[in-house]
Amino acid sequence: METTLNIALPKGRLGEKAYALFARAGYECPAVLENSRKLVFENEAAGVRYFWVKPSDVAIYVERGAADLGVAGKDILLEYGPDVYELLDLGIGKCRMAVAAPRGFRDDTRRTLRVATKFSNIARNYYADQGRDIDIIHLNGSIELAPILGLSDVIVDIVETGTTLRENDLEVAAEILPVSARLVANKAAFRFKTRRTEQLCEDLKKAVETV
Ligand code: PRP
Repeated sequence: METTLNIALPKGRLGEKAYALFARAGYECPAVLENSRKLVFENEAAGVRYFWVKPSDVAIYVERGAADLGVAGKDILLEYGPDVYELLDLGIGKCRMAVAAPRGFRDDTRRTLRVATKFSNIARNYYADQGRDIDIIHLNGSIELAPILGLSDVIVDIVETGTTLRENDLEVAAEILPVSARLVANKAAFRFKTRRTEQLCEDLKKAVETV
């Protein structure tokens, strides 16, 4: 195959679902699913090379051209604003970005609202649009703990099934935006590998539509 497409997949359940779409679209590389510590997998015949990367790093690999293509959540794209092309909504990894608070929480607008989140930019923009004065507490995980321990008043986080909120006596206070996984492309790679990329996009689109 004249041009191999280098594709960054997010490690974990979302990446496995994304790979299933690529495989259905004709870009198989069964070794990808091997339970090993290997990170790079190639199927020369299909012209694809996959790498597993940390979900929040996919956009960096693609923006800097280490990968031609990648699969990243809309949440990551909005948070980091990478300079990449967003080619396709893959219709997987569907969830929503929301504000959540302890059940019955009332916002006292005379006070600065303390917001714990992994998504500082999304939270900052959301509250700036509302003209609400906030203090961001940036955390890297287990965000739901913050209001329980009094570290924050509310959180801005991903809600998928709602189980984590329910089990921690929190509830959605406001929806910010729906999230799903997107196929993104490095801008220069897209110019050099246009035909192959467009073909892959078309094939993936069909696979997405027939789920
Ligand atoms: C995400 C998110 C929530 C949870 C939501 O956490 O931050 O905690 O999933 O899913 P649910 O609505 O189906 O319960 P993740 O598993 O990525 O871990 P972390 O944020 O704590 O690192």
